[in-house]
Amino acid sequence: MEPKLSPLFTKDEIAATVSRLAAEIRRDYRDKNPLLIAVLKGSFVFLADLVRQLNLPLEIEFVRLSSYSKGTESSGRVRMAPGAPSQIKGRHVLVIEDIIDTGLTAAFLLDYLGRKKPASLKYCSLTDKKERRRVMVNIDYRGLTVPDKFIVGYGLDCDEKFRNLPDIYALE
Ligand code: IMP
Ligand code: MG
Repeated sequence: MEPKLSPLFTKDEIAATVSRLAAEIRRDYRDKNPLLIAVLKGSFVFLADLVRQLNLPLEIEFVRLSSYSKGTESSGRVRMAPGAPSQIKGRHVLVIEDIIDTGLTAAFLLDYLGRKKPASLKYCSLTDKKERRRVMVNIDYRGLTVPDKFIVGYGLDCDEKFRNLPDIYALE
């Protein structure tokens, strides 16, 4: 059966949110040459739009993690894929995420990166599925609050589908 998609945020609403977050980040990282670490794959659309509004010197790295094995249920375990960035020490690190759900991924990453002695470590997430939080994490730059539904589009997938939709939808 084809899943039903109900509209949640239009591309204009998303663009306004990205602009707001970019303004906050520009203000805080002006002379810091931040290292943006984007969490693959879901954050690639958000990252691409965000960095083009950050007219300041910065560098970009990617990490690949897994917590969702298949479909919409979290496996509850987070692992780091090989090829994690190595030059973290002394850098102003800003993690770029598509969504924070249980918080397990964010908690894992903050711990993992924190051990590598960055000069500072902050978190930016386009969306926040608050109701599902299982561990407390501080989101320094927070975009849109989403309901307790599985969402797709603008980089977010369900079994690798729907990442290319310009708007954000909830799966019914
Ligand atoms: P967490 O560890 O439970 O916070 O989940 C983080 C990861 O799960 C996100 O980076 C996404 O890859 C995935 N995820 C959680 N909720 C959704 C959703 O509603 N749609 C698509 N992916 C999701
Ligand atoms: Mg993700």
